[in-house]
Amino acid sequence: GDDHLQGYFEAIIEADQKVEPRDWMPDDYRRSLVRQIAQHAHSEIIGMQPEGNWITRAPSLKRKAILLAKVQDEAGHGLYLYAAAETLGVSRDELVELLLSGRQKYSSIFNYPTLTWADVGAIGWLVDGAAIVNQVPLCRCSYGPYARAMIRICKEESFHQRQGFEILHTLAHGTPAQREMAQDAVNRWWYPSLAMFGPPDSDSTHSERSMAWKIKRFSNDELRQRFVDMCVQQASVLTLSLPDPDLRWNAEREHYDFTQPDFDELMQVVKGNGPCNRQRIEHRRRAHSEGAWVREAAAAYAAKRAVREPA
Ligand code: ACO
Repeated sequence: GDDHLQGYFEAIIEADQKVEPRDWMPDDYRRSLVRQIAQHAHSEIIGMQPEGNWITRAPSLKRKAILLAKVQDEAGHGLYLYAAAETLGVSRDELVELLLSGRQKYSSIFNYPTLTWADVGAIGWLVDGAAIVNQVPLCRCSYGPYARAMIRICKEESFHQRQGFEILHTLAHGTPAQREMAQDAVNRWWYPSLAMFGPPDSDSTHSERSMAWKIKRFSNDELRQRFVDMCVQQASVLTLSLPDPDLRWNAEREHYDFTQPDFDELMQVVKGNGPCNRQRIEHRRRAHSEGAWVREAAAAYAAKRAVREPA
């Protein structure tokens, strides 16, 4: 009966092994994974917009080719993650519908505008940097398909991060105006990047359960601290500063002390009231409806082939 199955599931988690799609799992575990993986997939897809905004204006052909490849990688991550979610018994169509109707979330970070070319650098360095800190532990997540998807995604994210770092490094060592543009982008993206890790542990509704299930391996605050510690070093190599006057090494804690992001702002952005929320969703809805004929044609073609070549 169910007790037996529950015991088997718990033993898999306890032994640090993977739960696979055909294994029995508690409904809440399945639901929470669908929620997290879908949000993650939606973030990749919506995340194409702020950088896509600069493809036509990249400062050289080489920069343009790199950015194009990067944005394409994000589309790939999105599709890869939708496929991981589908192993839990939901369809990609359903998930896309939940995104477009505002019933599922995507990361707060993609609701901020990309005002200058340096923003593409800051997104690569800080946003993809934060994504890596958050996602490397997900490679050890207890759900097999999600954990395996994360391995490849993290490799590509680290290329993205280097790419952003290199843009900022070039600007920071360029003309005074370029340097100022780089610093301004870092100033604007720093706190929203810290907020990406989610609410503080005391307000995180899912952390405790997700950690017991080994979906999450570290709490939001632990990962945020790890990210700050990593960035301080890298900012000094860039010769740029982080916009926090209270950032300093704490020898006792062996971590940097820092100013927390504004969590009220995070909640406002999550609720749909960030600077670009409406624009992002409208753009995605339009792209989805303009792509309807492609989906219909692909489905018609697949149906025809299924008749002609029965499997
Ligand atoms: N943006 C939008 N929503 C957020 C954010 C954020 N930055 N942080 C937390 N939330 C939401 C949660 O999804 C949750 O809402 P829900 O109950 O409707 O799902 C609520 O706020 C409370 O947060 P937590 O209880 O802390 O949620 P959780 O345990 O899921 O932790 C986290 C949030 C850390 C984002 C986790 O879901 C995660 O690791 N997800 C996978 C990584 C990911 O999605 N990255 C996307 C951005 S990176 C990129 O795509 C480049």
